[in-house]
Amino acid sequence: MIEELLPSTVAAAATAGDLPYAHLYPEELALMRRMAPPRRSEFATGRHCARQALGLLGVPPGPLLRTEGGAPRWPEGTVGSMTHCAGYRAAAVAWSRDFLALGIDAEPHAALPGDVRQAITVGSERAALADLDAAHPRIHWDRLLFSAKESVYKAWYPRTGRWLDFTDAVLAFDPVRSTFAARLLISPHTPTERLFSVDIRGRWAIRNGIALTAVAIPVPADRVKAHPARQDAIPAR
Ligand SMILES: CC(C)(COP(=O)(O)OP(=O)(O)OC[C@H]1O[C@@H](n2cnc3c(N)ncnc32)[C@H](O)[C@@H]1OP(=O)(O)O)[C@@H](O)C(=O)NCCC(=O)NCCS
Repeated sequence: MIEELLPSTVAAAATAGDLPYAHLYPEELALMRRMAPPRRSEFATGRHCARQALGLLGVPPGPLLRTEGGAPRWPEGTVGSMTHCAGYRAAAVAWSRDFLALGIDAEPHAALPGDVRQAITVGSERAALADLDAAHPRIHWDRLLFSAKESVYKAWYPRTGRWLDFTDAVLAFDPVRSTFAARLLISPHTPTERLFSVDIRGRWAIRNGIALTAVAIPVPADRVKAHPARQDAIPAR
């Protein structure tokens, strides 16, 4: 499912449920020690999916630890993202020579509870959501917006280490092309943050009751280096 939303040079792996046989490294088991059992299962299954996806790139398996902010520490030369929600766990990875960052997110396809819609949107988004709700009432646009902003954050944070509030970005959906564009409303502090100051493009889908979003931010053309032997597509797709 998530692979439908990503370029062919991104490797992805997913599963509908937890995998009791998922292998973990001692360093990962140490990270899990203080987690409750359901959280352990999703953590382990996410790592399993991530190693499968890395395997498609040809990266040998190894422990996947975390940064202080909770982001996965991907092997040298790769970028990636993970998500889990009821009924779905997924990971996506790519070479950092091709992509600055990836962000993926899965959520149950249901309306957001209470006043969450208000809390995660800026004024222009509220007006656009009202129009989308009227035109496509079977889609929970507020949930998709929440998910898309989480995808943006998962791409942003590992590169910058900077917190981003839900109202620090404004997002616009294209309901026909199943895409979205996000623009950050904060001032960039560093050259890396400036790389995110163009529109961040993403895709969305609803599959099997799950709202899915993904962003894949390519390395800007003026930073791409020549790689004569590089593979352009993931073989198993
Ligand atoms: C971090 C966050 C995005 C995770 O999303 P979620 O829907 O709660 O959970 P998901 O299952 O989809 O994703 C969890 C995975 O995200 C990854 N993740 C966690 N923190 C992360 C971070 N700071 N940066 C990148 N990835 C992160 C991890 O792989 C985690 O799984 P793991 O702990 O098993 O490795 C969310 O909890 C959060 O803090 N959001 C607030 C910030 C935000 O989204 N702002 C919007 C700005 S426009």
